[in-house]
Amino acid sequence: MSHHSHETTLAALGVTEPGQVALLFAQLLAQANADLEAAHSADTFEKFRVDWFGRKSGVLTLVGDNWLKPASQELKPAVGQELNKFKAQLEARMEARRAAIESGAPEASGAKDRVDLSLPGVRRPVGSRHLIRQVFEEIEDIFVSIGFSVVEGPEIETPYYNFEALNIPEYHPVRDDMDTFYVEAAVSSGPGTPAGSLLLRTHTSPVQIRTMERQEPPVRVIVPGKVYRRDNPDATHSFMFHQIEGLAVDTDITFCDFTGTIQYFVKQYFGPSVETRFRPSYFPFTEPSVEFDVSCIFCGGTGVAANGATCGKCKGSCWIELFGAGMVDPAVYGFVNYDAKKLSGFAFGMGMDRLAMLKYGIDDIQAFFQNDVRFLRQFP
Ligand code: DAH
Repeated sequence: MSHHSHETTLAALGVTEPGQVALLFAQLLAQANADLEAAHSADTFEKFRVDWFGRKSGVLTLVGDNWLKPASQELKPAVGQELNKFKAQLEARMEARRAAIESGAPEASGAKDRVDLSLPGVRRPVGSRHLIRQVFEEIEDIFVSIGFSVVEGPEIETPYYNFEALNIPEYHPVRDDMDTFYVEAAVSSGPGTPAGSLLLRTHTSPVQIRTMERQEPPVRVIVPGKVYRRDNPDATHSFMFHQIEGLAVDTDITFCDFTGTIQYFVKQYFGPSVETRFRPSYFPFTEPSVEFDVSCIFCGGTGVAANGATCGKCKGSCWIELFGAGMVDPAVYGFVNYDAKKLSGFAFGMGMDRLAMLKYGIDDIQAFFQNDVRFLRQFP
């Protein structure tokens, strides 16, 4: 309290007209409000109450004694009215303040507790693309730069696209590796597909067929995507993983175009010092079929690790197996009405996860799927 107008009479304050009374009470209310605002706890609130409403020497008692009682006839009604209004207003504000203090509302706490808007906020970390996604794009860029386009296909496939049209008839033994997750379908999804037999594709190769059905040669596509196998999870196996398929078909594509393309890719991806070789292999949809290897990227193709011991990655063989490929089997052209006499081409199917693991030194494929941020953050 800094003003003490209530300790003296209106006459002494020079108030002679009713109009001045209202002003006086307005000043008193401003003072009361300031005191009330300063009350932030039950203790300071109680002091405020005693200061203003205390029976013996509270401000209100003194106002009654000094202003009202001795007031002149002309002023008394105005003083009485203003005093009642003042009391009612102050009581209402006090109640609100009391409630705020009791509920611990922020407006009741002191300036030191108020929210400081200049403090740094809570940082929400921005994620990054998953390493698999990054490697997909890396590989796509390499192939796009030499004239391939990127296409995709469905993950739920018909046995026709996944097997038959790739020259894998129903009882062919290579299905053993792949016979896998079948999906119940109420209706047939297309010609040659009985109702009830769809499957999660076991490789991206069916998109070769879908692409050739859709377009005339020449074809140059790569197909990134997820595939599914009935493999038990371990450091190198997962029931879901990623492949990139490649297909090039034209009127005069030779085995040299094929190996040249693969060599170009491998050097772009792993670096210029990496060598490639191929070994004979077998896939029903390529003839001849090969398996591509790269010179071991861990020991530089020497078979000897930095510490002089046998390289643990290639087991001293100097080579690391990379992926399957081959010249498209003419039988496949028969399924898509391409002229096998005029056309030739090559195809390949690479395990993306494996390519990423080799390049980035990851020794457990499961790390890709666990979404542990300590792993993910290493590839921002
Ligand atoms: N589809 C094969 C697999 O998943 C990989 C493959 C091999 C794809 C040879 C090809 C290829 O296109 O020509 O095991």
